[in-house]
Amino acid sequence: MGYSKVIISLFCSYMLILHITSSSVIPTLALKDCEFPAIFNFGDSNSDTGGLAASLLPPTTPYGETYFHMPAGRFSDGRLIIDFLAKSLGHPYLSAYLDSLGTNFSYGANFATAASTIRLPDLIIPAGGFSPFYLDIQYMQFLQLKSRSQLIRHRGGIFASLMPKEEYFSKALYTFDIGQNDLGEGFFGNLTIQEVNASVPDIITGFSTNIKKIYDLGARSLWIHNTGPIGCLPYIVANFPSAEKDEIGCAKAYNEVAKHFNHELKQAIVQLRKDLPLAAFTYVDVYSVKYSLFKEPEKYGFELPLVACCGSGGKYNYNATAGCGAIITVNGSQILVGSCKNPSIRVNWDGIHYTEAAAKFVFDKISTGAYSDPPLPLKQACHRS
Ligand SMILES: *[C@@H]1O[C@H](CO)[C@@H](O)[C@H](O)[C@H]1NC(C)=O
Ligand SMILES: *[C@@H]1O[C@H](CO)[C@@H](O)[C@H](O)[C@H]1NC(C)=O
Ligand SMILES: *[C@@H]1O[C@H](CO)[C@@H](O)[C@H](O)[C@H]1NC(C)=O
Ligand SMILES: *[C@@H]1O[C@H](CO)[C@@H](O)[C@H](O)[C@H]1NC(C)=O
Ligand SMILES: *[C@@H]1O[C@H](CO)[C@@H](O)[C@H](O)[C@H]1NC(C)=O
Repeated sequence: MGYSKVIISLFCSYMLILHITSSSVIPTLALKDCEFPAIFNFGDSNSDTGGLAASLLPPTTPYGETYFHMPAGRFSDGRLIIDFLAKSLGHPYLSAYLDSLGTNFSYGANFATAASTIRLPDLIIPAGGFSPFYLDIQYMQFLQLKSRSQLIRHRGGIFASLMPKEEYFSKALYTFDIGQNDLGEGFFGNLTIQEVNASVPDIITGFSTNIKKIYDLGARSLWIHNTGPIGCLPYIVANFPSAEKDEIGCAKAYNEVAKHFNHELKQAIVQLRKDLPLAAFTYVDVYSVKYSLFKEPEKYGFELPLVACCGSGGKYNYNATAGCGAIITVNGSQILVGSCKNPSIRVNWDGIHYTEAAAKFVFDKISTGAYSDPPLPLKQACHRS
């Protein structure tokens, strides 16, 4: 933008402000709510509603106990942010694309699987800890769903009622929450903090590449979560005990890498808005909302944010080989690693994942637009800034 254009646009904003303050109707209120007839979600365990469970590893009891009263394919005691999001749009909970039993994709589909990364991981389940369904594969699955769902709809009847209508693909909300495991893979794969940090641009490139391909298939409203404060999770603080802590007890350098990821993600979205001008991109600062739960838990009705509710052992109640739902032998008897008394006042569920109570808290904050760029509420996320 040239110098004179800057002055002109500053002048225009000044006039706009005058106009706003001198009239009783605030123009942003005039934005209509969007019609999002479907949701297509991409991500990891933060938003997996049953993909990894259906394909590889179902979580066992006490997962799901708070809301579903049984394991429900989610790595939580209950619902996830994506569940609250779907509900707030008046939709049923999203079916996992990989689930072949009883699914209904008429309101969209969920391609997220727990342990997914953006980049191809080195160690894939069962040889290692990461999901084979990394973001490139999730895109390929979306491609399949988009074309085959229309063939199935043509069969009519019950088949049609299980698949999204063709026009839903351009009207849908596309949601993303992925990247945390790319950082985790580096931290647990013996890379130094600096090496993980240095891998961030390549991770972000992988993200942008997939966004462009999903846009080419018709996505126009994209709601993108940044990554959370990984250094506040028991699986980091318990595994790297010598890490320097910040004033609230989170591993500082690990959070610095997450913040660097978020900075690069935000920049990438600025570029994507230029490259893909027909789309509305919303960057959602989930990091800040989650961090506030660690910083001021009491203020929001929570306690012990750094301690896993369901787990065993040590200061953080977390031991990777005796995790939530495992059966372990203590003093010769077998016991289930179970839940704490009151998960509704806890932030962390199992050392890696958040409780339903925390997910609801995060959703309530982010749906208002207060943590978004542009600052539009969820229901207006189809409007381009
Ligand atoms: C799939 O879900 C939609 C929306 O709830 C419903 O109208 C349709 O009947 C469902 N299809 C089946 C076969 O249950
Ligand atoms: C990390 O290093 C340790 C010790 O050298 C080794 O046992 C472990 O296999 C390494 N992990 C990975 C993922 O390379
Ligand atoms: C990560 O890299 C960025 C960009 O080079 C740098 O500004 C930041 O200080 C680095 N952070 C860490 C924790 O190494
Ligand atoms: C973690 O759990 C395993 C299995 O119960 C146990 O053998 C090990 O001692 C525990 N580690 C710590 C540090 O408590
Ligand atoms: C195991 O036995 C020891 C010694 O009797 C006891 O102090 C400890 O509390 C027991 N642990 C559990 C989990 O029951």
